[in-house]
Amino acid sequence: MNSVEQIAQYATGHWVSQMVFTFVKHNMGDAFQQQAATATQIAERTGVNEDNCFRLLRALAPLGILKQDNDQFSLTELGDFLTTKHPMSLTDKVLLEAGYEHVLLWTHLSDYMVSSTPAPKAIFDLDNYFGLFEKRPKHLDVFAKAMGSYSQDEIAMIESMSSLDLSELDTLVDLGGAYGDLLASLLQRYPNLEGILFDQAAVIDNVLPLDRMTKQAGNFFEQVPENQDGYFLKHILHDWDDALCLKILGNIKHAMKPTSKLYIAEFGPVPETDEPHLSKMFDLHMMLTLNGKERSLSQWHELLASAGFKVTMIHESFGPLSVIEACLADPV
Ligand SMILES: C[S@@+](CC[C@H](N)C(=O)[O-])C[C@H]1O[C@@H](n2cnc3c(N)ncnc32)[C@H](O)[C@@H]1O
Repeated sequence: MNSVEQIAQYATGHWVSQMVFTFVKHNMGDAFQQQAATATQIAERTGVNEDNCFRLLRALAPLGILKQDNDQFSLTELGDFLTTKHPMSLTDKVLLEAGYEHVLLWTHLSDYMVSSTPAPKAIFDLDNYFGLFEKRPKHLDVFAKAMGSYSQDEIAMIESMSSLDLSELDTLVDLGGAYGDLLASLLQRYPNLEGILFDQAAVIDNVLPLDRMTKQAGNFFEQVPENQDGYFLKHILHDWDDALCLKILGNIKHAMKPTSKLYIAEFGPVPETDEPHLSKMFDLHMMLTLNGKERSLSQWHELLASAGFKVTMIHESFGPLSVIEACLADPV
């Protein structure tokens, strides 16, 4: 691809994003029923307009999602990820990241560069992103399912961390644990562990209880469960700026026993060099939506030290997620 084509591709990235979103939103991947089909058949099975359907499928084929053979289309190996049946289905992530709310929030990026006003405020007049759950209740389900889907990949990453061992813990709280996917996997892996799923009421109300799991609704800016052996935070601190992170960490410190451990799972640490890393893109998303950030190793050390913690280990995985393990710097 030459430079002109490459920049044109970047500039029209939102076209591709909406093509993939539309394919998933109308459940077209499943409509193939694992066989080749014509656009007419897919249109009939999904209730979309036949001509529009043909034109969408034709445009998706060169992206590697479909194969076109005269009037027959079939899913490629890549396209299979856009079916709900695939064990690593990406449909929930597509519905969140290319859906109405996130697309609208990203249109604010250029204004944000000057104003630093978070996009939820500018676009939806909300104090923070999570207010969307009440203002646009359907978004809660889309968000929580996508988090569950991210968690499935990330659970595999966490399970791959040979240095991470929670077998010494009897109790653990997953702060902001959403629908509880991570906690459920940890409870399965550690049969003696008891866990608290802590999140906003609107989120955990939907979660079915599991053996050894207690649900607790609350606000981690006010208080968190006391005397737990472990405090797990996956994709929580990247949501907030340093001052708000210090508030959450302060509440955890206050609730901890001297021997308790803190586990922070995030994309990164952000490399200080120019190597590609997912954390660099997510950093922009967190900046725009919450004034949050992904952090480099030195930023983690600094933040945790200011909150009275010391980093004891960085557990790396085969993917972009790492777990930072920390304990109280001065246990009393
Ligand atoms: C980015 S999501 C991460 C969810 C989950 N830990 C994961 O990795 O899939 C952030 C979570 O924090 C929760 N949350 C946001 N503000 C909160 C607050 N003040 N108190 C408790 N939970 C909160 C949200 O409801 C959401 O489930």
